[in-house]
Amino acid sequence: MIIGVGVDIIEIKRIKRAIERNKRFLLKIYSEKELEELKKKNIESYAGYFSAKEAVSKALGTGILNFKWTDIEIVKENSAPKVVLNNNAKKIAEQKGIKRIHISISHSREYATAFAVAEG
Ligand SMILES: CC(C)(COP(=O)(O)OP(=O)(O)OC[C@H]1O[C@@H](n2cnc3c(N)ncnc32)[C@H](O)[C@@H]1OP(=O)(O)O)[C@@H](O)C(=O)NCCC(=O)NCCS
Repeated sequence: MIIGVGVDIIEIKRIKRAIERNKRFLLKIYSEKELEELKKKNIESYAGYFSAKEAVSKALGTGILNFKWTDIEIVKENSAPKVVLNNNAKKIAEQKGIKRIHISISHSREYATAFAVAEG
């Protein structure tokens, strides 16, 4: 059963600026595992992961409110992104009966976008 859906779009240059201007941005938004994967990629993938986190937060129905950005982790499984929830985001999902969150990410030259489906 579908419990929630979420979509997000972001300008890639916004994420580029945030990374350049604020040294703490990377550590605030991305987990160690995500940063390890993103090191191999370009700026659009950093924006794609950011967008994915916002899409997941909408599928949870909360926004990034009662948990940290790193509580939503995007990991790779055979090149496809997969969502792992930690700490409070995991608790919120459990409370709502969400068993799995599917994610799809895309980017063009200027934008990154993501769509999430929360399944019960
Ligand atoms: C829900 C959230 C993710 C929206 O993200 P956003 O980038 O601000 O806005 P978007 O344009 O992508 O989305 C807005 C739409 O999300 C939807 N939305 C708002 N709250 C929502 C929620 N709790 N659950 C699901 N959808 C929600 C609404 O339809 C809204 O459109 P509307 O205001 O016209 O009704 C936002 O509440 C949030 O938590 N953002 C964190 C942003 C932040 O901290 N940025 C700093 C970067 S370090």
